[in-house]
Amino acid sequence: MIHGINKVMENFISVPLNHNVIGYNESFDRLKKIFLQSYDEYTSKMRNHIIDYDNELSGHEVRRKQCKSLINSIDKNFNFDKIIVLETGVSSNYNDGLFGLFLGGIANKTNGKMVSVDISSDAVENSLKIFKEFLPNLNYTAHVGDSRKFLKETDEVPNLVHLDSYDFNLFDPLPSALHGWEEFKAIESRMEKGSIIIIDDNYRNGTWLEWIHPDGSREVGDIRVPMLGKGAHIYQHVINNNTEWELIGNHYETNDNIKIIIQKK
Ligand SMILES: C[S@@+](CC[C@H](N)C(=O)[O-])C[C@H]1O[C@@H](n2cnc3c(N)ncnc32)[C@H](O)[C@@H]1O
Repeated sequence: MIHGINKVMENFISVPLNHNVIGYNESFDRLKKIFLQSYDEYTSKMRNHIIDYDNELSGHEVRRKQCKSLINSIDKNFNFDKIIVLETGVSSNYNDGLFGLFLGGIANKTNGKMVSVDISSDAVENSLKIFKEFLPNLNYTAHVGDSRKFLKETDEVPNLVHLDSYDFNLFDPLPSALHGWEEFKAIESRMEKGSIIIIDDNYRNGTWLEWIHPDGSREVGDIRVPMLGKGAHIYQHVINNNTEWELIGNHYETNDNIKIIIQKK
C-alpha cells in the first residue's frame, strides 16, 4: 500500500529533488521532502479511517489534489527552519478532509507548532483528540472563539496559515468571502516575507455545481465571477499585483474545488 502511495507522489512532483538543479537550495530540498513525507503519512491515516478513501468519486480525491497543489506551490522563498501553522476552522471531522492534520505533520517534523481556532467547542474538543492520537509530539493548541477576533489578538507569528472557517454557500457567497477577507486583514501584516496563506473552498468562473441544501434538496448553479469562495476578495486583492502578496501554484485552471495559495513577497 505504501509503495502505491509513493508511486502516486512521484507523478506529481514538479520540482526534481536533485542537487544539480540550478538554484538548488538545501533548505528548500529539506522542506519539500518534509511536505512529501507528511502527505504520505496523512493519507495513510485517512485511509485507515475511511473505507472509500481511494474512490475517485468520494470527496477525498479533491482533498488529495489540494495537498498536491500546495506541495507543488512551495518554492525556495518559503524558507523557514520551523513551520508555525495557524488554522481557522479546526480539523475535527474526517469528512471535511482534516487538511490541518497534513499541515500539522509538517510542523511536527520541523519541531514547529500549530495553533487553531474554532467557534464550536465540540469541534475544538474533537480536534484535540485527533491530533493527540495522530501527532502526539506536536505542540498543538486549539482555541474556542471567533477566528477574526483570535487572529487580531494572538501573539503568534505563523508562516503557514490555513483559512477554512466560515463555510462557503453558493447561493449566499458573500458572508463567507467577507469573513475570509477579515481573517486575512487580521493576520497578514504580522507574517514574514515568504510566508504562505492557503484559503479553502473556491471555484473559478464557468464551473457548474450541484449544491445540496441543508434540507437535502439539490440545486444547480454556476460561477460567473473570476473566483468565488472563501478567498474571493483575497484573490481579487492579490491578482492586482500591487500588494505584498502574490498568487502561487499552477492549479487554477480547473473546475475542482480549489485552495487559493498566496505568498508574501
Ligand atoms: C469546514 S470546517 C473546517 C475543516 C477543517 N479545516 C479541515 O480541514 O478538516 C469549518 C469550521 O469552521 C468553524 N467556524 C465557522 N464560523 C467560524 C468563526 N466565525 N470563527 C471560527 N470558526 C468558525 C465551524 O465551526 C467548523 O468547525
